[in-house]
Amino acid sequence: MTERTGRLAGRRAIVTGASRGIGAAIATRYAAEGADLLLVATGVPQLAETVAAARESGARVETMAVDVSDRGQVEKMIANAISLFGGLDVLVNNAGVYKAGRFIDHRPEDFDRVMQVNTYGTFHAMQFALRHMKDAGGGKIVNIASTAGKWESMNQSAYNTSKHAVIGMTRCAALEHAKDGITINAICPGFVETDMIDQFDDHAALAGISVDKLKEMLLGRVPMGRMLQPVEIAHLAVYLGCSESDGMTGQAMTISGGMRMG
Ligand SMILES: NC(=O)c1ccc[n+]([C@@H]2O[C@H](COP(=O)([O-])OP(=O)(O)OC[C@H]3O[C@@H](n4cnc5c(N)ncnc54)[C@H](OP(=O)(O)O)[C@@H]3O)[C@@H](O)[C@H]2O)c1
Repeated sequence: MTERTGRLAGRRAIVTGASRGIGAAIATRYAAEGADLLLVATGVPQLAETVAAARESGARVETMAVDVSDRGQVEKMIANAISLFGGLDVLVNNAGVYKAGRFIDHRPEDFDRVMQVNTYGTFHAMQFALRHMKDAGGGKIVNIASTAGKWESMNQSAYNTSKHAVIGMTRCAALEHAKDGITINAICPGFVETDMIDQFDDHAALAGISVDKLKEMLLGRVPMGRMLQPVEIAHLAVYLGCSESDGMTGQAMTISGGMRMG
């Protein structure tokens, strides 16, 4: 077998939510940079395209069906990666869901689901990964938060709350594990062209405008005047997963086409 090269050569990584969008792009870039991967989505069939793309780089790629909101399943996910690869160096918590809703009448069950997947999914995976990484003497965690985790937005309070919590957890856990050789950082993308953006129908309806008008308004707030592509987020995830970022922890890095500088 030829030796893998790249900025992530020899690293063993989990990417959750790898079936499409940002997670698929991260998985593909991680494979191209030499990582071996356990790719996760709620079902294995939908991972097929990502697996094929990642294997083109010669990566060892394994798959697993995991609902990240289920703590037991997440514990098995971390144990599985360790057993398959002999360890876990990088955890990318990317799986996420979006649900629009006016705060005053947000359905508690919708609010709860968003929190369970986005916040608790990240919490469970971080806890089990950290227990291993601490014993192993190091590791890297990359949490995909959002600009919605830093600022206010209309009609998406569950999503914003869930992502604010991800950033809070990132900072607190990073502080507690700064001396363990473990870095924990969050990426805060602005508008990225994925299926998640296509779920803006409810959001537009609540605002009483068309989806096209909503997108036009959102892009009007982006100095670059365009949506980002998933691979642009993946480049940052590679940096945070490799040794180049060893001096950085507890950060929530915005990548938003210039939306809100500073
Ligand atoms: N798109 C944006 O503009 C944007 C901006 C900022 C932040 N983000 C964040 O970036 C991440 C990826 O978003 P995306 O735009 O790529 O979304 P997407 O295209 O909708 O993909 C979401 C991914 O999450 C997985 N997933 C959803 N619920 C899950 C669960 N309970 N357990 C395991 N996997 C689950 C999906 O897999 P299945 O095949 O199982 O459904 C899919 O792979 C999310 O955390 C999102 O909040 C996105």
